[in-house]
Amino acid sequence: MCGIFGMIGNSAVGQTLTALKRLEYRGYDSAGIAVKTGNEISIYKQAGRMEQLQAIVPNGLDSTTVIGHTRWATHGEVSTANAHPFFSFNKRFAIVHNGIIENYQSLKNELTLRGISFASQTDSETVAHLVEANYKDDVFEAVKITAKSLEGSFAIVITDTVDGNLYAIKNKSPLVVGVDGQNVYFCSDIRCLSQYAAKVAQTPDNTIVVAEKNGKVTFYDFDGNTLPVKFFEPDKTEDFVHVDGDFMLKEILEVPEKIRRSKRGYFESGGLNLSAKVVHRIKRIYFIGCGTAYNSGLQVASSAREMLDIDVVPVIASEFIYDRYPVDSDTLAFFISQSGETADTIRAAEKVASMGGITYAVTNTQTSTLRYLCNRVKNIYADGEYAVASTKAYNCQLITLTLLINDIAYLKGSIDEVTHTKIIDSVDSLSIAIETVLNCGYSISKIADEIKDSSSVFFLGRTRDYPTAEEGSLKLKEISYIHSEAYPAGELKHGTLALMEEGVTVVAIATDSALIDKMASSIAEVKARGARVICVSPYSFEDVTSIKVPVVNRYLFGALSVVPLQLLAYYVAKRLGRDVDKPRNLAKSVTVE
Ligand code: M6R
Repeated sequence: MCGIFGMIGNSAVGQTLTALKRLEYRGYDSAGIAVKTGNEISIYKQAGRMEQLQAIVPNGLDSTTVIGHTRWATHGEVSTANAHPFFSFNKRFAIVHNGIIENYQSLKNELTLRGISFASQTDSETVAHLVEANYKDDVFEAVKITAKSLEGSFAIVITDTVDGNLYAIKNKSPLVVGVDGQNVYFCSDIRCLSQYAAKVAQTPDNTIVVAEKNGKVTFYDFDGNTLPVKFFEPDKTEDFVHVDGDFMLKEILEVPEKIRRSKRGYFESGGLNLSAKVVHRIKRIYFIGCGTAYNSGLQVASSAREMLDIDVVPVIASEFIYDRYPVDSDTLAFFISQSGETADTIRAAEKVASMGGITYAVTNTQTSTLRYLCNRVKNIYADGEYAVASTKAYNCQLITLTLLINDIAYLKGSIDEVTHTKIIDSVDSLSIAIETVLNCGYSISKIADEIKDSSSVFFLGRTRDYPTAEEGSLKLKEISYIHSEAYPAGELKHGTLALMEEGVTVVAIATDSALIDKMASSIAEVKARGARVICVSPYSFEDVTSIKVPVVNRYLFGALSVVPLQLLAYYVAKRLGRDVDKPRNLAKSVTVE
């Protein structure tokens, strides 16, 4: 899960560096470029952020053929030696790679036996040497043989010192091709590429792409047969904005507007888009995703259980792939993914498709791999989300999934028209309620001051508040590095209560009036052991710090009560001096299993 970029065209060094900065959210362990000048390739690469790379690229350096990379380390430590691009052994070729070469060890052994030595610990370097080892007198032939020998997930761009073409090999990792006059581009991310190219195309799996100096682009299968791939005009309306400050805060503040947009987009794009006949057949629904996307499925599953009289199961994608969850033609599986490129979620979707289930992508990236894999797709309309910690996408996933479940329940006859309409109308009042919570940013930042030195933070909730607890906990730990966990409040007394002591903070989410007494008991139990308690609720609890939230429709509460937790995580991380947009060890888009 790295970012790759390659281009043939004017000012290629400057354009590649700008693109890599935009792709940095995909990995920021190291960055590098390979620049072709005359019959030579020069590589500049550096461990650390783009600023470190920019510092070593000579002023005025330019070229018409450049490839570049931002890395999220998988094989090999974070170091300059392991940074991409990699040269082949005689420096004839240089490559960048996103993905994992699963059979790299056996390929590396073969190359080593032939006397080729490696400069890095990565799987990717193998590809560079293979291309040169396979080269006789035809680069395309060498690329073809190399492509056929690789197993795993890969988007690779290869530059050649001699012909000046760029070659790409693609399987399972994202690769978008763009053209604009005689300029040709390769990129991991369509949003980034749409800023450069007039037309773009998604590269299918098992494809080789050849980009020539005259702007000609040809797609081939691994046997060398040409493939018809369609170019389309990308959405250029969404500029990659520069923000003064952090993307995360900007993205939290956008939540009310994006929720309205999500609702509008849902109806403008045809609503559920499943026929009544199909809906009546559905006997089982899965909500599948990872991290925040999984939490949104967990949340909506709780509403779906109330609204529908069928099996509803939220599952973590990486578990779904290797466990034995039943799937048949009456199974509907929602695949939730902001990026639409998460490898675990994609593998799970492939599995459901192969077992004959109905696959439904809920994504923020309309032209993602997941979208092309699923029978149906719904955009959540959150627009570009760049902070690694997902915020507005979560709220928009909740809205979109709730509208989908609402429509399914209505078509199935398990809710009446009044309830159906009420849920739709309530999205507007939800946006207003969220605006009032956002206005409390200052008091939430003061609470952050109080809890920033906690040894641990536990998030508690019951039923629909438990998924919110999970999401609040994930947000806090990923950007502040404070240990945190979420529990169904009633479960605490079965073991975890042993951890309650002074220095521990408990965040209790209590939005269900029917469960207030039960939550009050859990709060009393942890307070009695010395923990500090913060409560997110429309109701009052004695002697605890409260973040008040308004009352909204029961099925939409999760999209509101998570907002103070997003802000709390943000302010705690800021107080601790963390890089909130690019937390350590993480990347925005996890395209490896
Ligand atoms: O792009 P996706 O929604 O598929 O990403 C899934 C997770 O990797 C993502 O939500 C991750 O958990 C975020 N860092 C959470 O803030």
